Amino acid sequence: TQKIIIDTDPGQDDAVAILLALASPELEVLGITAVAGNVPLHLTEKNARKVCELAGKLDTKVFAGAIRPMVRPLVTAEHVHGKTGLDGPDLPEPTMKLQEQHAVDFIVETLMKEEPGAVTLCPLGPLTNIALALVREPQIAKRIKQIVLMGGGFFEGGNITPAAEFNIYVDPHAADVVFRSGVPIVMMPLDVTHKALTTAKRVDAFRKMGTKVGDATAELLDFFERFDEEKYGTDGGPLHDPCVIAYLIKPELFKGRHCNVEIELGSELTLGMTVIDWWSVTARQKNATVMRDIDHDGFFGLLAERLARL
Ligand code: BDR
Ligand code: CA
Repeated sequence: TQKIIIDTDPGQDDAVAILLALASPELEVLGITAVAGNVPLHLTEKNARKVCELAGKLDTKVFAGAIRPMVRPLVTAEHVHGKTGLDGPDLPEPTMKLQEQHAVDFIVETLMKEEPGAVTLCPLGPLTNIALALVREPQIAKRIKQIVLMGGGFFEGGNITPAAEFNIYVDPHAADVVFRSGVPIVMMPLDVTHKALTTAKRVDAFRKMGTKVGDATAELLDFFERFDEEKYGTDGGPLHDPCVIAYLIKPELFKGRHCNVEIELGSELTLGMTVIDWWSVTARQKNATVMRDIDHDGFFGLLAERLARL
């Protein structure tokens, strides 16, 4: 099994990613660390606990992390995710307790305790917690197996500004720390997640499971996709964050390229843009594997098969 820490700002698509991880025996979720992003921290940490309870995994450890980005004020996305961040299903208030330890301390402590190369970080939101951990204890960089993250976009452009994807835009300084850390990075940008669309048929497959998790997933996706359908005129919305978890289980579902990726920090117009040297037109050091293609039928097949286990 692969040991992972999920860093997240749930978020309907984060929720589905968490369910996929908790349903998959290949993965051992050491902890879930919440960050401010789609909605403020007090909601993302609560939403993470709601999702663990939905999955019936009450022993999962959930930690609260950074309340705001490193430099800039917090930008949230209620226009996409609703007021609670998890609008759609009516999930009960969680009974699970939040861990007392700060998420950043948990990340550092875990990486220093586990064997080097044993732990993969899975950021599904702004990179604040991960950057703070790297700054707090630089020794962790060489102990992290890899960082598989959802963020950025290049050929597809941005979804919060014309140039920037939400997770990177919210904390571009943190993203810069992470992309310069030397840790192996696998990146799931909009270029791949916009090909993972929740069509009506795929959402129905969850509903037809006839389970609590299946119903809740269908309701999460029904709410989530309405935004992108209206905005982009697609059949269904992109299921961003579960791509990260799916990659850990079945990397062969994705195709990409090892590239140099730099984060734009200087320009107001393009702040948070992930500048990807796809064609190797510079000699800058390659620091990330950037995914661009997905076997979307295989991806949704995996999701349905796994969520049915919960
Ligand atoms: C990312 O932003 C959030 O709204 C989603 O949860 C995803 O992580 C997509 O840009
Ligand atoms: Ca997210």
